[in-house]
Amino acid sequence: MKHLMFYCRSGFEKECAGEIQDRATQLEVFGFPRLKSNTGYVLFECYQQGDAERLVKELDFKALIFARQMFAVAAEIKDLPREDRISPILESLSDMEAFPRCGDIRIETPDTNEAKELLKFCRKFTVPARQAMRGKGILFPKDNPKKPVLHICFVAPGHCFVGYSLSSNNSSFFMGIPRLKFPSDAPSRSTLKLEEAFHVFIPREEWDERLAPGMWGVDLGACPGGWTYQLVKRSMFVHAVDNGMMADSLMDTGQVKHHQEDGFKFEPARKNVTWLICDMVEKPSRVAQLMGEWLISGWAKEAIFNLKLPMKGRYDEVLEDIENLKLFLIENKVKFQLQAKHLYHDREEITVHLRCLSNISPY
Ligand SMILES: C[S@@+](CC[C@H](N)C(=O)[O-])C[C@H]1O[C@@H](n2cnc3c(N)ncnc32)[C@H](O)[C@@H]1O
Repeated sequence: MKHLMFYCRSGFEKECAGEIQDRATQLEVFGFPRLKSNTGYVLFECYQQGDAERLVKELDFKALIFARQMFAVAAEIKDLPREDRISPILESLSDMEAFPRCGDIRIETPDTNEAKELLKFCRKFTVPARQAMRGKGILFPKDNPKKPVLHICFVAPGHCFVGYSLSSNNSSFFMGIPRLKFPSDAPSRSTLKLEEAFHVFIPREEWDERLAPGMWGVDLGACPGGWTYQLVKRSMFVHAVDNGMMADSLMDTGQVKHHQEDGFKFEPARKNVTWLICDMVEKPSRVAQLMGEWLISGWAKEAIFNLKLPMKGRYDEVLEDIENLKLFLIENKVKFQLQAKHLYHDREEITVHLRCLSNISPY
């Protein structure tokens, strides 16, 4: 196989392509991206046969910022007949030795407005396609989340890409998007950004320990309180820092202390903070630096924050800010884990998770 498909937010194909090209080159896999603006996906064509299998394994999906999903493409099929769309797909896979037996099937579309109609078809098509794939042994008889995932991505009616991703190196979500329901008592829609960040950055089995009741959090740029709400909902206590107004419903819980101060100057009186969260609309380089200072000082153990993207040079800005933050932490001998993602609920921003792994805290 020579091709890979990547999903991204519509309008960010250039950033996604630039990033893949850089990462593939670092792995000494050479090729070029094919993209069309506002399609919500990028194809990467490797020069060498077999390199798609290599990349789908070796290109660390977690390290990609702009890609929501990636899979190796076995076939592109056009003009599928309306009366039998399944047979040509089965045929395209039947004589492919390199195609692994899969444990799950996802029939998807890129995430664009135009594809919404197609998505209805995808849902209907899933059951018969699954049965047919099982019949031919392309899928295991039962769902198995540890095995590769079979992707059939429809980019237009009758036009799809068929391939696979590895469950150890992909997004576990359909179309790479966690489906979250807006909690009706949350004070702002941006609450979903932080909830999605928890789903993407923190393994579910670690939630009880890392998002535990009784922990303290600091929310910089908190108003009206969508992010604070996520911590309060998990029975945490929050210092909410912002000159604006916090939602009464949050203040009434008794779990929130509102500080009408500048987030760049705030220092917690007691150094018992686990979570630092920050959604201030500010220059991304300033925010990244501030997050680094908090972790280096041992004022927080984990941080989730937004970096607002500039109008131009979005990929370069993000790379530079993250690189500078990493250097700053390394120079100060902080061991850390960092992951950045353009989340589904992010628009002109990306979300970063930073976790301190060295025990440098003074308390
Ligand atoms: C996008 S809103 C935050 C929304 C919030 N995360 C929520 O879910 O409801 C950005 C907030 O950052 C605050 N802000 C911007 N600069 C700030 C600063 N230097 N210090 C504190 N707050 C700041 C603004 O007042 C605004 O309320």
